[in-house]
Amino acid sequence: MRMTKTQTRYVCQECGRVAASYMGKCPQCGSFSSMVEEIIHDEPATKSTAVRGLTGRSAPRSIGDISAGDEDRIRVPIEEFARVLGGGIVPGSIVLVGGDPGIGKSTLMLQMAMEMASPFGSAQGKRVLYVSGEESERQIKMRATRLNNGKKELPKNLLLVTETNLEIILNHISEVKPELLIVDSIQTVYLSSMDSSAGSVSQVRECSSQLRELAKTSGISVFVIGHVTKEGTIAGPRVLEHIVDTVLYLEGDRFQAYRLLRSVKNRFGATSEVGVFEMREGGLVEVTNPSEAFLAERMVNAAGSSIAVTMEGTRPILVEVQGLTSPTQFGNARRTANGVDFNRLLLISAVLTRRVGLKLAEQDVFVNVVGGLQIDEPAADLAIAAAIASSWKDVSVKADAVLIGEIGLAGELRMPSQMQARLREAQKLGFKTAIVPKALRKGEGYPKGIEIVEVRSVDQALNAALGSKEKPKSPPHMA
Ligand code: TYD
Ligand code: MG
Repeated sequence: MRMTKTQTRYVCQECGRVAASYMGKCPQCGSFSSMVEEIIHDEPATKSTAVRGLTGRSAPRSIGDISAGDEDRIRVPIEEFARVLGGGIVPGSIVLVGGDPGIGKSTLMLQMAMEMASPFGSAQGKRVLYVSGEESERQIKMRATRLNNGKKELPKNLLLVTETNLEIILNHISEVKPELLIVDSIQTVYLSSMDSSAGSVSQVRECSSQLRELAKTSGISVFVIGHVTKEGTIAGPRVLEHIVDTVLYLEGDRFQAYRLLRSVKNRFGATSEVGVFEMREGGLVEVTNPSEAFLAERMVNAAGSSIAVTMEGTRPILVEVQGLTSPTQFGNARRTANGVDFNRLLLISAVLTRRVGLKLAEQDVFVNVVGGLQIDEPAADLAIAAAIASSWKDVSVKADAVLIGEIGLAGELRMPSQMQARLREAQKLGFKTAIVPKALRKGEGYPKGIEIVEVRSVDQALNAALGSKEKPKSPPHMA
C-alpha cells in the first residue's frame, strides 16, 4: 500500500523551473519572487492521457510513404499572415500567437477566423471554432461586425463559445469537429484536475500539451493566443515555446498604427519572417509595401533624418531614423533610444565623439525610428550615426541616399549580409545613392541603377552623406 501524501513544489512563473523549496531568485532565469507554490498529487497530472486516449494509435511507416507536401497547407487569404506561417496553415499544427495585451492579437485571430470561415474566400468556408476566455460571445460578435464593416453577412461556419474549462472545450471540439481552433487566451483556460490556478505555468503547460495532442491526433490546426507580461503572476508564453510548432509574436508600439507579426520559431518554414499590418478603424490592414509606408511622412531635407535599410527576415525594409542632439541642461548628458538598442546608441555616440570628433559629451542625444519599428540590426548603425551627426551639424543628409553598414569601435565599417536585396529595395523606392562599406572581397556585385559610394570609415561615410551647409558640392566619390 502506498501512502498518499500531499507534496508541494515551487514553480518559477517566468521560466517554469521547478524547485523543492522556495527560492527568492530563480536559479534558471534569475527572476526575483517568481516562485509560486503548487500542490502536487501522488498521481502527477502531467501526463496527457486524456487526449492521447482518443485516437492514440501509432505505427512506423516508411519515410517515402509519408506525405509532407506543401500542397497540404491550408491557404490563408491574408497574405502577410501566410508569409509568416511559411505559406499557409499546416493541418494538425499548433501555433502560438504571443504579444503584449492590447496589441491586437484577438483582432488578428478573429479576422483570420472570419476569412477562413467565409464561403466566398479561397479558404471556402472552413469550420472554425473560436474559444474565448477573455470576452463574451456578444463582445466578439460586435467586434466581428465592426471588422466585417457591414460588407457581407458573418460566416455561418464560424462558431463562438466563451469557455475556460479545457475538458468542456475538448467536448465542444469533438461535437463541432472544427478544422481550425482558436483559443483566446491560453492564460484563461484550465484543467480542473490540477490545483493551480489558470495562468500558472503548470496549467499553461499542461493545457497546451493537451491542445498539441489534440492537433496531432485529429489534424485540427490550433492557434493559441498568449499574453506576454513582465509580472510573474501570469505565466509568460515562454514555457509554451517548446510545446508548440510555431511561435508568432505580434509587436508594435501601442500608440502607433503599425504592427509586425514576426515568426520566431517555425517547424514548417523560415523563421524571422515578418508580416506588416496597420491597425485601423476596421481592424488590421495588410501593408504590402512596408518601406513606402514607413517613409510616407518623411520630411525630405530636414536635418537629423537618414534612411536605413533593415532586413526583416528575407524582406528588406527602408525606415527613417531620426536623431536629435541638444545641449545638456543638468550635468549628465542623456541618451534616449526609441526603436534602436540603447547600448548600440551609446557605442555609436562614443565612436562619433572619439573617431569623428563630434562633441557629444555635453549633448543629449535622442534617436527615434519612425513608425514604431524596432531595429536590432547593426546594419543600421551607419544610418543612426548619420542622423545624429546631421542634427549636430544642422546639415541634412542627402535626400536620395540610403546608408548601410555596421560600425566598429575604431570607426571602421563592416559589410552586413544580404546587400543585394537591400540595395534592390532602395533602388525600387527611387533612392539614387547608397553609402556602403567598401567590399574587401568581390561579392555578387551590386544591382545597376543605384550609385554605390564605398567608404571605409564613419568619417568618410558622413562626408559622403552630409552636404555642406554653405555651398552644396558635387557628390564626393571614394576611391
Ligand atoms: P485586441 O485584439 O483586443 O488586443 P489583444 O487581444 O492583443 O489584447 O486589440 C485591442 C486594440 O486594438 C484596442 O486598443 C483597439 C484596437 N482596435 C482598433 O484600433 N481597430 C479595430 O478594428 C479593433 C477590433 C481594435
Ligand atoms: Mg485579446
